[in-house]
Amino acid sequence: MSLFSPIKIGKYTLANRIIMAPLTRCRSVELNCANELMAEYYAQRATAGLIISEASQISELGIGYPCTPGIHTQEQVQSWKKVTSAVHDKGGHIFLQLWHVGRISHSSFHNDILPVAPSAIAPAGEVYTFEGMKAFETPHALTTDEIKRTIQDYMQGAKNAIEAGFDGVEIHAANGYLIDQFLRDGSNKRDDIYGGNIENRSRLLFEVVEAITNAIGADRTGVRLSPSGTFNDMSDSNPKEHFEYVCKKLSKYKLAYLHIVDALEGDIRHGANVMQLSDLRSAYDGVIITCGGYDKKRAETTIQNSMADAVAFGTLYISNPDLVERFKIDAPLNEADSETFYTQDSKGYTDYPTL
Ligand SMILES: Cc1cc2nc3c(=O)[nH]c(=O)nc-3n(C[C@H](O)[C@H](O)[C@H](O)COP(=O)(O)O)c2cc1C
Repeated sequence: MSLFSPIKIGKYTLANRIIMAPLTRCRSVELNCANELMAEYYAQRATAGLIISEASQISELGIGYPCTPGIHTQEQVQSWKKVTSAVHDKGGHIFLQLWHVGRISHSSFHNDILPVAPSAIAPAGEVYTFEGMKAFETPHALTTDEIKRTIQDYMQGAKNAIEAGFDGVEIHAANGYLIDQFLRDGSNKRDDIYGGNIENRSRLLFEVVEAITNAIGADRTGVRLSPSGTFNDMSDSNPKEHFEYVCKKLSKYKLAYLHIVDALEGDIRHGANVMQLSDLRSAYDGVIITCGGYDKKRAETTIQNSMADAVAFGTLYISNPDLVERFKIDAPLNEADSETFYTQDSKGYTDYPTL
């Protein structure tokens, strides 16, 4: 088994196990829609076994950064068709990552309405808005009715993604955004059925999984988790036990895949040992994509040792549209320029050279 072996995920057989990680690039300059430039960027990367799109918001309240795309208006659905057909024309596969940022937002993104979260706790740090950096606001704690509406938004986002021509969706439950805010006991202090023990804190995730798999099929649904992540002020008293529970329960849904933002070797955070890939492998029955600081060598070893089935590359895919071809012949790799990660034009986006 190697990075170049085909793999079946859900409904699809992918040509290889080299996955393009979801990457926010802030090129949706008009109405949070996709555009020609984005279609070109994704088509350049279509030899990846699977492309996972940049995170795309499911509602206006889900927005947390300037110029990120959405999947909640008809204009947005229509605009994504350019992207999905450009990728399909090149023989690629593409899933859309469904996003709600929760408290990692600012009222200026949604007509002065406060960001929402499991609990009214502002994250540490600042938020990047159209008017520059601002302090995070204390979010509004979602009521149970509002949680139900949010689940509907996730489901509608998944249906919209299929209408827009995506092969499936990835539920973004990682990196300190809304679903992760519910999962972690550092940000979830609720005392109702969505807070307290991990059964309750994971209720939102499972209700979203349930709604989406019923709407579009488990074989077109993936989930991304970051059990060891501290990004966006996340903390958890016992990530190993909590995420073992989540992974075991996710196994029952026969998802297309589970995508893990991996801990680094020997990583210790939250004062507890983080969850290692081997723990996840034992807890989860199904296809695992891993991601986080991988190069070709580490990725090959991980697949050969059966610790994961496929590997997603983030930064390397920003600067190497032909990463698959480069890996095949061990060609040198372009360096990514972080200055242009979140700018709004083609520089540092579609102009990285191929071999
Ligand atoms: C510019 C940039 C944008 C990112 N945007 C997203 C995103 O939209 N959704 C997400 O889940 N992760 C996002 N990530 C995290 C990556 O998917 C990936 O987990 C991270 O870059 C580690 O992988 P790497 O070491 O191969 O880059 C982003 C990372 C970068 C550098």
